[in-house]
Amino acid sequence: MILVTGGAGFIGSNFILDWFAGDPEPVVNLDLLTYAGNVENLAALADEPGYRFMRGSIGDSALVAGLLATHQPRAVVNFAAESHVDRSIHGPGTFIETNVLGTFRLLEAVRGYWAGLPEPQRQTFRFLHVSTDEVYGSLSATDPAFSETNRYEPNSPYSASKAASDHLVRAWHHTYGLPVLTTNCSNNYGPYHFPEKLIPLMIVNALAGKPLPVYGDGLQIRDWLYVRDHASAIRRVLAAGRPGEVYNVGGRSERTNLAIVHTVCGLLDARRPRRDGTSYTSLITHVTDRPGHDRRYAIDCHKIESELGWTPAETFETGIEKTVQWYLDHPEWVARVQSGAYREWIEQQYGAG
Ligand code: NAD
Ligand code: DAU
Repeated sequence: MILVTGGAGFIGSNFILDWFAGDPEPVVNLDLLTYAGNVENLAALADEPGYRFMRGSIGDSALVAGLLATHQPRAVVNFAAESHVDRSIHGPGTFIETNVLGTFRLLEAVRGYWAGLPEPQRQTFRFLHVSTDEVYGSLSATDPAFSETNRYEPNSPYSASKAASDHLVRAWHHTYGLPVLTTNCSNNYGPYHFPEKLIPLMIVNALAGKPLPVYGDGLQIRDWLYVRDHASAIRRVLAAGRPGEVYNVGGRSERTNLAIVHTVCGLLDARRPRRDGTSYTSLITHVTDRPGHDRRYAIDCHKIESELGWTPAETFETGIEKTVQWYLDHPEWVARVQSGAYREWIEQQYGAG
């Protein structure tokens, strides 16, 4: 079996759903269920005998050591993190706590478990750390895309905390020999994306007739990847990646934020026209820019393509259509994550965590 951490968040839940769509190998999902974790994302696995959920923190060394000893995983896939740049600007402390100290404690618990494994299992064990392209900093319009050899130049508390976690993972390989793999991925989008991030925020605000807040001039560039393609990349790296190596993952789909918002509005205009006949684009509102806002991210994913044969299945056009349609089809999911009713239920069901 494998142990997934942070598997109730956006990418982790898509990864687990994708896993069970193709593979019956059991998964234990350890997630603290912060505001971003949502067990409803995994409701489809309620009758799946190979799926187990445990509420708890990667920073709880005794809990993690117990889970490892009980379930004897052949791999750990670490998604657990604080992930939103704007939140890291308002309150960096939890980002250091979870992304840096949490990763450190997880690595130490995993190292203790791995050191005690019989030799064949020690050889095949993997610790896969899911990271971000933001650790490489910001590109100008003409710079080449980020490759695995780019210097780390993180600019936000979030990206600095992820960079620190990547360094710890690297060091645990070089110093202790832990068989680690690191993936640095570009911006994901798709179902179950929490509506604090650009694409889902634009969809839910547009449908509610609220302003669509575009930071600054809206000409910042991100490289978008459909979340199930990120899941397939992680599976591929877990299966065939070389221990100690880093793999960049991206969609070769660079778009300005304004272009993204216009695309979302165009899809909504066609599928859910406004009663007054105006376009959702009339809701676009330029607001104060994010402090330290990175101008451009772009990923060179040549290494994972040529070494491991991975390519994304979706283009941006097919992926964004699926995403907008998913939000139109799941208003109850949006209402629940926005209402607070979900949090109340979690406290009742799982306790304080
Ligand atoms: P998310 O915020 O949607 O989910 C994070 C999950 O981690 C939540 O379920 C949360 O409850 C859980 N969590 C937080 N602290 C925890 C702790 N101490 N112990 C256990 N669980 C904890 O994030 P996401 O967008 O799904 O991102 C997942 C990972 O992928 C993160 O490491 C992020 O840095 C990385 N990443 C995200 C993107 C993106 O575009 N969203 C792109 C590249 C990399
Ligand atoms: O690049 C990978 C990263 O992508 C991940 O590591 C992060 O976890 C993930 O949150 C994401 O970070 P971004 O900061 O790029 O994503 P976000 O959706 O917050 O913003 C995307 C762009 O849109 C960015 O340039 C800021 C802008 N934006 C965002 C919001 C929420 C707006 O213009 N208005 C908004 O309201």
